[in-house]
Amino acid sequence: MGQSSEKRFNRGSAEERSPDIASVLEIEDPVDVRASAPGRVEFIGNHTDYNGGWVMGATIDRRVEVALRRQSDRQVRLRSEADVPTVEVDLNRIERQSGTEGWANYVLGMINVLRSEGLELPVGFELRVGSTLPVGAGLSSSAALELASGVAMSEAYGGKFELGELARLAQRAENEFVGVPCGLLDQAVVALGGADRLVRLDARTEEIDSVPFPPETKIWIFRTHQAHALSEGGYQERHDESRAVREELRSLLGMKEVEHLVDVPPARLEQLREQLPETLYRRARHVTTEHRRVQRMVQLLEAGEREEAGTLLFESHASSRADYENSTEALDFVVDQLREQGGVLGARLTGAGFGGAVMAWTRTGYGKAQAQEVVQAYAERFGAELEMLACQPAPGVGVVGR
Ligand code: GLA
Repeated sequence: MGQSSEKRFNRGSAEERSPDIASVLEIEDPVDVRASAPGRVEFIGNHTDYNGGWVMGATIDRRVEVALRRQSDRQVRLRSEADVPTVEVDLNRIERQSGTEGWANYVLGMINVLRSEGLELPVGFELRVGSTLPVGAGLSSSAALELASGVAMSEAYGGKFELGELARLAQRAENEFVGVPCGLLDQAVVALGGADRLVRLDARTEEIDSVPFPPETKIWIFRTHQAHALSEGGYQERHDESRAVREELRSLLGMKEVEHLVDVPPARLEQLREQLPETLYRRARHVTTEHRRVQRMVQLLEAGEREEAGTLLFESHASSRADYENSTEALDFVVDQLREQGGVLGARLTGAGFGGAVMAWTRTGYGKAQAQEVVQAYAERFGAELEMLACQPAPGVGVVGR
């Protein structure tokens, strides 16, 4: 830890960072640039990123790819292979889209932030988008689209952005243009993750570094039938509650002791329990303990203590479930099934919650037949499909061709 700083990640260009990535798009005519970005899974650190805490994530080998071709006029045409409308706007009038055209906001938001940082777009472009990354599964298809299009635009128009910087700009696009108050986790992992590592983000300092991904283990994602949508109520509500309890704690302990919610040690919080509204107390208990679980996770992974590290994943889920209340019956069911299986080191809900997916961290011996048992049990219980994806950490965002 520590010696692999963000600087190290940021050195090489996006191009050097993109080895054999299978193409998602079939392109006939030449384009100016193709860029590809992976999805991400939040390994541990649930809702800590906007509370000044630590969080860890890994890229996964499901990707969004974009192909950009500059045009001679000022039009921007965004076409997706998915079943969504093509969006066409004038570069002089970039406006937020809604409804089925809302998918374009991730790209339009990037145009805005890149321009505000000095990138000049004298002509418009056509951007085609293809993906093997499920949308609405809590796997950051939005961050992947932001970063892939950010890298493509930066390359095509001569931008000089480092990957860490692009991650921050993508977060800004999402906060300011799309209107989701997300933390930096998704964009940091998509930009700076890699096949051999877990990315660690300290949201207070925005320091990003990595821990080697433990060999002979893998990640499985079980996607429930309950799609989650970040822009909908739950995420914003937890964000507001976190801020509310931080303010309460500031008035009890003073500004200096509570710059961020994670600054309050769990034992101190316990002493103040009676003075806080019960719900807010529980939200704070989740955040402060989760932050410390991430810190412990780094130590355990560095010491090669996988069993104990896996236990932390189950503890994280229990805390999200009971205290942050962003789990669902379906997510709990999947975690409970996984807990009973051999080869599973740990499992937890991943990402925003309120639906979405469960991540399991397993030994490589854990296979399809076992995952299928979970799928089967889920079908019997909910009469619905649970989609399973076996994943490997994968290269971060990069240019993949011209
Ligand atoms: C979403 C957000 C992240 C993070 C997680 C919860 O994935 O985009 O920034 O807040 O939820 O940990």
